[in-house]
Amino acid sequence: MNFELKPLPYEPDALEPHMSARTLDFHYHKHYAGYMQKLKDAIGSGGLARASLTEIIRTTRDTDVFRNAAQVFNHEFFWQSLAPSGSRRQLTDGSLKDRIDRDFGGPDGFREAFKEKASGQFGSGWAWLVVNPDGTLAITSTGDADNPLTTSARPLLTLDVWEHAYYLDYQHDRGKYIEVFLDHLINWRFAGLNLEEAAATDASDTTRARGSRRGASAASRSS
Ligand code: FE2
Repeated sequence: MNFELKPLPYEPDALEPHMSARTLDFHYHKHYAGYMQKLKDAIGSGGLARASLTEIIRTTRDTDVFRNAAQVFNHEFFWQSLAPSGSRRQLTDGSLKDRIDRDFGGPDGFREAFKEKASGQFGSGWAWLVVNPDGTLAITSTGDADNPLTTSARPLLTLDVWEHAYYLDYQHDRGKYIEVFLDHLINWRFAGLNLEEAAATDASDTTRARGSRRGASAASRSS
């Protein structure tokens, strides 16, 4: 895997006034960079050093390697889930908008459901918009470092609800931080691209499965 820190996709002050440069600086350099260093230290030059971050997360559950690898993934996914001037205005017509309408009754329904799930996560964790294998959207939350990669769902967006993500700007007020994310910071373009990628991967898996079934039938006919 690539053990290098990924740069933020925007300048540290680009999300102001909704998320301060000070918050992003601390979050990136103290927390994200810390998880990356602990991951490198834990893996060393062993076999996992050649695995992808996703492979590590899926094969090391309940270990320190898992916790640090998952936190690296979660933070990199979180940076991309934010955008300067992100908002519901960016949720334009298309597959993602259609599914938000179908599964949550529209952007307002999504907002309420996401706020409830993110507020209700006890202690440190993450709130996620995910797509299930049947194509339905869902909002989930995970504790500590856990994430949807260990489930059949695929992540589209995430919000960090660890206190370090919002304390400097909003102190204890997680609810205000969640509302600001929902109203000003969501990178809907990133979520839409993740939905397209999930659909393309599922289609490719289906084609591969059909191919292997045809191969098995041909083999049984010729034997
Ligand atoms: Fe964080």
